Amino acid sequence: MELSGSSAVVTGGASGIGAAAARQLAARGAKVVVADLQEDAGNAVADQIGGAFCKVDVTNTDDIINAVEMATSMGPLKALVNSAGIGWAQRTVGKDGSYDSAANLEAFQRVININLIGTFDCIRLGATAMSRNEPDEFGERGAICNLASVAAFDGQIGQASYSASKGGVVGMTLPIARDLAAVGVRVNTVAPV
Ligand SMILES: NC(=O)c1ccc[n+]([C@@H]2O[C@H](COP(=O)([O-])OP(=O)(O)OC[C@H]3O[C@@H](n4cnc5c(N)ncnc54)[C@H](O)[C@@H]3O)[C@@H](O)[C@H]2O)c1
Repeated sequence: MELSGSSAVVTGGASGIGAAAARQLAARGAKVVVADLQEDAGNAVADQIGGAFCKVDVTNTDDIINAVEMATSMGPLKALVNSAGIGWAQRTVGKDGSYDSAANLEAFQRVININLIGTFDCIRLGATAMSRNEPDEFGERGAICNLASVAAFDGQIGQASYSASKGGVVGMTLPIARDLAAVGVRVNTVAPV
């Protein structure tokens, strides 16, 4: 896809894989919005690549809309990388047999909220903006890439919440790709080791 003159949103773009994706997209000519909780690191990446930082918590819909709007003000939004994510590991039961020592349910919900529901919120809002683009010569309006994990398929001890969240990302990829084919938006998920 031709990205020059377009914009992109990278969640989790202040660090790691997201920062690398932001650099790649900028090298391909996109104006990148680095959407992350970390202001200092996010601004540093944005400055390096001639993009913009937007403070985003992916569990907050208004934050996501701000990032998408910031991107569309710089060019048609053609790329979204969903790299924001957290890990968490805790065994399902504690060692003393008390109910209180069982796995922390709030922590489980937080991982699902960020890694799975946050990813879906970014997809639905980013794809909405992409659906307004003029299609290119191949009928494409945009592309979305999600970060799952090998833990979606082969979770280790303590990884119930993380594996559930990444398994959810894997599971929703095909139906969303089928939905978004109608508007010319590709959806892919990668599962790093
Ligand atoms: N690095 C790996 O080896 C690996 C392997 C498998 C999967 N992954 C997945 O790839 C993605 C990126 O991994 P990474 O190693 O680059 O992680 P990282 O910790 O370096 O970067 C994640 C970024 O997400 C941001 N973030 C966390 N919660 C957020 C929230 N609620 N809203 C907005 N931003 C938030 C963090 O501030 C951070 O900058 C993650 O989803 C991770 O689960 C990574």
